[in-house]
Amino acid sequence: MSATSTITVDGKQIDLPVKSGTIGPDVVDIGKLYAQTGAFTFDPGFTSTASCESKITYIDGDEGVLLYRGYPIEQLAEQGDFLETCYLMLFGALPTEAQKADFDYRVTRHTMVHDQMNRFFTGFRRDAHPMAVMVASVGALSAFYHDSTDITDENQRMIASIRMIAKMPTLAAMAYKYSIGQPFVYPKNDLDYTSNFLRMCYAVPCEEYEVNPVFAKALDKIFILHADHEQNASTSTVRLAGSSGANPFACIAAGVACLWGPAHGGANEAALKMLMEIGTPESVGKYVAKAKDKNDPFRLMGFGHRVYKNYDPRARLMQKVTHEVLKELGHQNDPLLEVAVQLEQIALKDEYFIEKKLYPNIDFYSGITLKAMGFPTDMFTVLFAVARTVGWIAQWAEMIEDPMQKIGRPRQLYVGPAKRDYVPLDARS
Ligand code: CMC
Repeated sequence: MSATSTITVDGKQIDLPVKSGTIGPDVVDIGKLYAQTGAFTFDPGFTSTASCESKITYIDGDEGVLLYRGYPIEQLAEQGDFLETCYLMLFGALPTEAQKADFDYRVTRHTMVHDQMNRFFTGFRRDAHPMAVMVASVGALSAFYHDSTDITDENQRMIASIRMIAKMPTLAAMAYKYSIGQPFVYPKNDLDYTSNFLRMCYAVPCEEYEVNPVFAKALDKIFILHADHEQNASTSTVRLAGSSGANPFACIAAGVACLWGPAHGGANEAALKMLMEIGTPESVGKYVAKAKDKNDPFRLMGFGHRVYKNYDPRARLMQKVTHEVLKELGHQNDPLLEVAVQLEQIALKDEYFIEKKLYPNIDFYSGITLKAMGFPTDMFTVLFAVARTVGWIAQWAEMIEDPMQKIGRPRQLYVGPAKRDYVPLDARS
C-alpha cells in the first residue's frame, strides 16, 4: 500500500495518509475526512476501524497468532505466570527477578478490600448474578480509594492499576461466597495470586484448606490466556469511558458490564450448556446438521470468532489445560470432554465449517475445565473479568498517556425524521 490513499466524495478527491504499524494491516487515517469533505465513514460494529494506536496486544486472526507485547501467548502460558504477564502488560517488558519480586509483593499487599465493602456486599440479594455484584462492587471501589484517582499523576495511576489487579480476585471470591451463603475468606498473602484466589473461593473457617497445585497452575494459565485481546468490546468500553477522564475504578466497572454479555464473556457458559445438551458423542452429528441448517438459528457455541479465521491459539492451550485438570480429577473419560472432542473432529472436517473458517475458540474448552474445578456456570464470566482486568487497566493507562488522546465521540448516520413542528396535544389525531 502507498503512503496515501485517495478517496473521492461528491466529485472531490482528497488524499488520506496511510499509516503502518510494526506488523498487521495498514490503516487509512480518516481523521481529517469530515473537515475536508463533510462526510463521515460508516462502520457499524467497527469491523474495519482502528480506534487507537496500541503497543500492548497483537492478533493475526488469519494465522492464529496472539502476542502480548510481542511475546507469543504459547510461551507466556507455558513458561510464565499470571503476575509476570500483568507486569509485562503494564510496563511493556518482562520483569527481572528483583522487579518481579517487588511487583508480586506490591500486588499481594493490596489484596484486602476496605472492610466497609463487606457491608456493601450484604445489601445484595443472595441470588443476584455474581456479574451484577461485580459491576456494582468494582464501581464502588471508586468510593473508597480517593488517593489513587488523580489520573494525571503517573504514580496514582500505577497504584490504581495495582489495586485493581489485587482486589479483583477478592471481590470475585466474595461474590461467590455471598451467593452460596458462606462467610467471606480474607486473602492470605503467603500464597501466590491464583492459589490465594482458589482459597478465598473454596476455604471455610471450620477446616484447613489445601490448594491443589494442579488447579492453581491451570487457573493461572487460564488467567494468562484471557489477560488481553486488543480492542474487543469491553476494552473499547473501558477506553471510551476513560476518555472523558472518568474515575479509573468506574471505567473498569464499565468494562465488567460489557463483558457480561453472551456475545462476549458469556460464551463459555453457552458452550458448556450446549455440550451438556448434546449429551453423547452419538448425538453430535445431529447438532452439526442443525448448525449448518440456514433455517435453524442454532450455532455451535465455542466455534467461530470475529477475528480468528484459523484455530484460536488460546483454544489449543485451553484444550491442554482441560486434559490436565480432568486427569488430576481422574475424569479422563469425562462424557462432556468426549462430546467436545467428537464435535471438534467432525466440525473441523466438515465443508461448511472449513469454508466459513469456523474453528474452536477459547470458550469451547474453558467451560468444561472451570466446571471440573468446581465453579458454577454463573462464575465463569467473573473469572474472565478477573483475568481481563490487567488488559483493561493497561489499555486505559496507555490511552491516558497517549498524546493523541481525546474524548471518544463516534458520529452517526441519522435516519430519523427530518425537522418538523411540534403539534399541540389537542390538535393530534
Ligand atoms: N456455528 C454455525 N455457523 C456459524 C457459527 C457457529 N458457531 N459462527 C458463524 N457461523 C456462520 C454464520 O451463520 C455465517 O454464515 P453465513 O455467511 O452463511 O450467513 C458465517 O458463519 C459468518 O458468521 P458471522 O456471525 O457473520 O461472523 P462474526 O464474525 O460476526 O461472528 C461470532 C463471530 C463469534 C459471534 C460467531 O462465530 C458466533 O456466534 N459463534 C458462537 C458464539 C461464540 O462461541 N462466541 C465466543 C467468541 S470468543 C470470545 C472472545 O474472544 O471474547
